[in-house]
Amino acid sequence: MSTSSTSADAGKRAAAAAALRFVEDDSIVGVGTGSTVRYFIEGLASRRGRIEGAVSSSEQSSALLRAAGIAVLDLNACGPIPLYVDGADECDPWKRLIKGGGAALTREKIVAEAARRFVCIIDPGKRVDVLGRFPLPVEVIPMARSLVARKLVQLGGQPVWRDGVVTDNGNWILDVHNLRITDPPGLESEINQLPGVVSVGLFARRP
Ligand code: A5P
Repeated sequence: MSTSSTSADAGKRAAAAAALRFVEDDSIVGVGTGSTVRYFIEGLASRRGRIEGAVSSSEQSSALLRAAGIAVLDLNACGPIPLYVDGADECDPWKRLIKGGGAALTREKIVAEAARRFVCIIDPGKRVDVLGRFPLPVEVIPMARSLVARKLVQLGGQPVWRDGVVTDNGNWILDVHNLRITDPPGLESEINQLPGVVSVGLFARRP
């Protein structure tokens, strides 16, 4: 392992450990997806008898939660939840995020929206001044892949199909390269409105 990946890993562990203090007894915890969240789930395992359960953002996290002895709950049966903990691929100085490197962006956005508080756990290497160095993931209905890709080119990006990846919702991912995202909420709205787009990995509209 290189020095930078070792320090990124230490940063992920530290961020995940810090998020544990936001978990209240007898509560339901929203759980994101990814390698940083994996450390959070490891820590959450020590609280398993003290929380009601978790709402998961992916099949991957559901499997990890169940293996840790934590009940995975249906969001429809929960109503608003107090806390959502998740990683990100990039974060700008206004805490606007790019997410979806793990293809779980749609369920992540749903669980984040259902939560009163979103605690984002990132290592320092994820901080950027302007979003867009990390290719922006967009989940699309398969039949709309080319249509949406053409629209994304008109918006100035270079979409690349994440070939071979099928999301938990049965859809496909386009990763949009070469964007310099100076208006994240505006671009989030614009991409969200393209027919065929399920969701975009910009998390910029949360107040
Ligand atoms: C999953 O779809 C993503 O949104 C992850 O939250 C994001 O990619 C961060 O993942 P890592 O913690 O693995 O860097």
